[in-house]
Amino acid sequence: MKVYKTVRGLQRQLDKERKNGKSIGFVPTMGALHAGHMSLIKKSTSQTDITVASVFVNPTQFNDKGDLKKYPRTLEKDAKMLADHGCAYLFAPSPKQVYPKGDQETIQLDISQLTQYMEGPNRPGHFEGVVQVVHRLLEIVVPDNLYMGQKDFQQFSIIAYMLKKLKLKTKLVVCDIMREEDGLAMSSRNVRLTKANRAKSPILFQTLSFVKKNQNKYKVKTLEKKALEMLDIRSFRPEYFSIVDGKTLAPVSDISKHKFVVACTAVWAGEVRLIDNMILK
Ligand code: PAF
Repeated sequence: MKVYKTVRGLQRQLDKERKNGKSIGFVPTMGALHAGHMSLIKKSTSQTDITVASVFVNPTQFNDKGDLKKYPRTLEKDAKMLADHGCAYLFAPSPKQVYPKGDQETIQLDISQLTQYMEGPNRPGHFEGVVQVVHRLLEIVVPDNLYMGQKDFQQFSIIAYMLKKLKLKTKLVVCDIMREEDGLAMSSRNVRLTKANRAKSPILFQTLSFVKKNQNKYKVKTLEKKALEMLDIRSFRPEYFSIVDGKTLAPVSDISKHKFVVACTAVWAGEVRLIDNMILK
């Protein structure tokens, strides 16, 4: 696997690949890679000729600068993992490479409809930063396929919207949530959980499973209330538990009236913020 730190170096190589008729799959990441990311790499290598991954801790999507500072950085380990899984190129740029004119420059896209719920109000500016960086990375890599995980449900919904609105040719492929054996969704932040909180963290999966199982038994408001009670255990602080329409992300009041419904949650486990979701139908 070759590692590129500059836009020019990567683009030159990818131009050659394209000239040779190779299709390109792209997996954007912020590093601290785990089996969840590897499932995206595997999907990409199975569907395209060349897989490119990026490791870039994007400063513009951190509304909490402390979180940015604490974000795990493990580039050497990440590179080894990617190489072992058949990734052809790793793009590991500096902020200057990604944002040569400074990171204030954004794209014109109104995502306010999709950011008014769940993560949006709790992380002001976060999705604007995600859209900005994914758009820029797509401009650099110009992949045929883009691979993202279902775990960040709102993120991929917003990126799907961006691709559609801006009429970009890249196809978005969404990959299932990868879970630890006890149900905890894999995340780069999990390594920061204390031992005690790690032991309690399967409660997210258990709560989502409870809601899925009982979706026809209780009204939405009751389900959400019960879920918040389940998540409110010692040293855990639920931020939201929302049952939403899978397309518009708007809260639903009657599950039976929607085709695609998802339950999404965010919980503070001590100082670590965990998110998870489950498709109800
Ligand atoms: O999901 C992530 O790790 C990031 O939000 C992404 C898509 C790599 C953009 O920085």
